[in-house]
Amino acid sequence: MTNSAIAVSGLRKAYKDKVVLDGIDLEVRAGTVFSLLGPNGAGKTTTVNVLTTLMKPDGGSVRVAGHDVATEAKAVRAAIGVTGQYAAVDELLSGQENLQLMVDLSRGPAKDGKRVVADLLERFELTEAAQKPASTYSGGMRRKLDLAMTLVGSPRIIFLDEPTTGLDPRSRHTMWSIVRGLVADGVTIFLTTQYLDEADQLADRVAVLDQGRLVAQGTPDELKRQIPGTHIRLRFTTAHELDAAARIFPGATADPDALALRVPGDGGTKSLRALLDRLDEHSLSAEECTVHTPDLDDVFLALTGHTTEAAK
Ligand SMILES: Nc1ncnc2c1ncn2[C@@H]1O[C@H](COP(=O)(O)OP(=O)(O)OP(=O)(O)O)[C@@H](O)[C@H]1O
Ligand SMILES: [Mg+2]
Repeated sequence: MTNSAIAVSGLRKAYKDKVVLDGIDLEVRAGTVFSLLGPNGAGKTTTVNVLTTLMKPDGGSVRVAGHDVATEAKAVRAAIGVTGQYAAVDELLSGQENLQLMVDLSRGPAKDGKRVVADLLERFELTEAAQKPASTYSGGMRRKLDLAMTLVGSPRIIFLDEPTTGLDPRSRHTMWSIVRGLVADGVTIFLTTQYLDEADQLADRVAVLDQGRLVAQGTPDELKRQIPGTHIRLRFTTAHELDAAARIFPGATADPDALALRVPGDGGTKSLRALLDRLDEHSLSAEECTVHTPDLDDVFLALTGHTTEAAK
């Protein structure tokens, strides 16, 4: 297909006799965000390493920016930018020096270099800290600097390996808006994440990696339709109360061991109030009431029958 930025078919990769990728097929259209979702050890970084020519595949075909990673690695490298899971920032250099180093390493016109550095510092809100050594940066600042360094050569395809793991909510949102800005400029993003909400926020398409295979692929909405939605969890003190409550909410599922009832709902205040009113009408009260939105564990349980823990 002409406008596919990444096309992978039958990708296999093993470390000695440990098979990590067992036949992966995926396609990423140019100018879109593709998110590879999976728990620790699923093979996300391995996939990124193969797609970015850092590792050789054992089998299958991988084309990035129209070039084969096995035979045209140089052309692939010229088209892509990679922000690895662990920051490539040099701790001893300042933010500005780290960026300047990337400019010097790239073959761009030297006279533009200073402006490129200044623009990136500005765009990533790092101007103030520009002269300080990167060792003094927070995790979020380091991540931003790392991504800024990736952008130096204006790559059209960018790989981000867990760009927000360990970041606080504010830094995560900053990263998200940076990614959205890149996509608006027509850049293709291949992103790995352990967060369902991140894939939901950013991705046009999501694939779920489990034990070497993609167990689901589609738009975030298609994926969410396959997993249990938002629900309200009520915990009672006696089995008798649980049974009584289960009778008044026919769509609910009871967990007798936990004395808990799972009532499907949209998480809004209206449905919550209606639920509490129903309990009141029947003179029932719950020990605990929590609103639960689906997370990676729910996805895995629904798609694979096991949790992320068991996937390791
Ligand atoms: N160089 C290596 N040699 C041997 N085994 C490896 C190597 N790199 C990764 N593995 C194994 O391959 C599997 C997949 O690892 P990978 O780093 O791709 O997972 P991941 O999805 O990126 O996990 P995380 O979320 O923890 O970053 C793991 O079981 C890991 O132990
Ligand atoms: Mg990884």
